[in-house]
Amino acid sequence: MRCSSIPSVLLFASSVAAQAENIYTATATSDVAQAAATAKTLSPVSHVKGKAFDRIAIIWLENTDYDMAIGDPNLAWLAERGIVLSGYHSVTHPSQPNYIASIAGDYFGMQHDDFNQADKNVSTVIDLLEDKGISWGEYQEDMPYSGFEGFEYVNQQNGKNDYVRKHNPAINYNSVASKIDRLAVIKNLTMFYKDLENETLPQWMFITPNMTSDGHDSDITTAGAWTRNFVEPLLNDKRFMQNTLVLITFDENETYTIQNRVLGILIGDAVPQHLVGTTDDSYYTHYSEIATVEANWDLHTLGRFDVGANVFKLVADKTGDKLRQWSGKVELPSMYFNSSYAGPFNEDGGNHRYPGPNLSKVGPSGRTVLPSIEKAWRGNPAPVYYTPDLETPDGQHPPTGYEPVV
Ligand SMILES: *[C@@H]1O[C@H](CO)[C@@H](O)[C@H](O)[C@H]1NC(C)=O
Ligand SMILES: *[C@@H]1O[C@H](CO)[C@@H](O)[C@H](O)[C@H]1NC(C)=O
Ligand SMILES: *[C@@H]1O[C@H](CO)[C@@H](O)[C@H](O)[C@H]1NC(C)=O
Ligand SMILES: *[C@@H]1O[C@H](CO)[C@@H](O)[C@H](O)[C@H]1NC(C)=O
Ligand SMILES: *[C@@H]1O[C@H](CO)[C@@H](O)[C@H](O)[C@H]1NC(C)=O
Ligand SMILES: *[C@@H]1O[C@H](CO)[C@@H](O)[C@H](O)[C@H]1NC(C)=O
Ligand SMILES: *[C@@H]1O[C@H](CO)[C@@H](O)[C@H](O)[C@H]1NC(C)=O
Repeated sequence: MRCSSIPSVLLFASSVAAQAENIYTATATSDVAQAAATAKTLSPVSHVKGKAFDRIAIIWLENTDYDMAIGDPNLAWLAERGIVLSGYHSVTHPSQPNYIASIAGDYFGMQHDDFNQADKNVSTVIDLLEDKGISWGEYQEDMPYSGFEGFEYVNQQNGKNDYVRKHNPAINYNSVASKIDRLAVIKNLTMFYKDLENETLPQWMFITPNMTSDGHDSDITTAGAWTRNFVEPLLNDKRFMQNTLVLITFDENETYTIQNRVLGILIGDAVPQHLVGTTDDSYYTHYSEIATVEANWDLHTLGRFDVGANVFKLVADKTGDKLRQWSGKVELPSMYFNSSYAGPFNEDGGNHRYPGPNLSKVGPSGRTVLPSIEKAWRGNPAPVYYTPDLETPDGQHPPTGYEPVV
């Protein structure tokens, strides 16, 4: 999405400056320089074996329809060396709710790209990973320093868009941003190469190219070239490829009036040889990114839409997770996933309550909700709308009880 708005939180940030989630929001050049001099950077390392991969790198590009993406020669080059996911769907428009959904199992009604801070009581995949001692990190191209929380940071030479908060999933969650040691692993892409050299890359990483590199302010040709340029040298780099799975996908497709389906490519030395060059047409969403990681490392769940999501087939083949087909009352082609239902971040209408996670012990996978989530939410009167079904809602088919009240 191309619009932006004044981050109102910044206006009163000084009154709450002691809290980690607000200390690094200033975007003026002098503030950035000052903060960069003292901000903490960490590179924790772990070696927890997974059932299908030992490391995952998730790369998100921007705003491209499926056919345009697969038609790009550089993405096609990568796709030939991996698996094409042809049934991968975004969850709504615009950008930011898709990013935040991909780590927390919901977008909480969000239908904008404004400055957001989700309450500390909302957990993400990061809590699940840390629970099992799995190192994680984000690499955001042109982020000025580790843990920067500002709305954006422009290119200092030409004033063009570089880093934007809306493309940084973890920073939007105060369960992450309130902890200095978590901010310290949200780094820029120069740190990726330092970590690569030092062999201190984490086991889970999310990579966001800048606003030109990812196709947002440019086109698919630029994004495809950037991606091949980034990934190709890593394919033969033993410091990176250690039973590693790379997912390349897009936040959303470009055209709002057609179904929000995007290209997904899985590549890396964790892709079995016999699957190289194949296409997997199973129904996936951004929630599959969480479910796949949960299945691979036997993690707990978030109790949200991660629970019903399909696990990527190459992983499900090894974990025993069952792949399901869409069988909702509404047929898949009639689901556009192009608008948001109500929720705490939705400015339209009512239902601004945070939904609670589903704490049920029974789910399709047998995995159970993270004990700290259960402890925080058990007995809370928040409405719960997460079913264990594969079928995900959209703005035109909202979860029960969350119809927008205008
Ligand atoms: C990347 O982050 C590091 C660590 O905070 C910082 O020292 C460096 O200046 C940043 N690089 C760029 C290009 O912003
Ligand atoms: C974005 O990153 C690319 C390299 O990946 C760099 O050449 C470019 O200057 C950066 N910023 C802009 C605004 O293009
Ligand atoms: C890489 O390793 C060197 C030597 O141990 C250390 O000084 C440096 O801080 C490390 N860099 C990062 C990014 O961790
Ligand atoms: C979603 O797509 C449907 C079908 O094309 C269209 O009627 C509707 O207006 C779209 N919604 C938005 C918000 O673009
Ligand atoms: C967006 O997804 C739809 C349906 O999955 C697909 O047919 C379409 O090609 C994509 N958009 C465009 C303009 O290609
Ligand atoms: C989580 O935070 C929201 C917003 O502050 C609040 O309404 C809700 O009661 C909290 N839930 C729990 C379990 O603390
Ligand atoms: C919570 O999950 C359980 C088991 O997976 C399911 O039976 C129940 O319907 C779900 N609750 C809601 C409110 O959807």
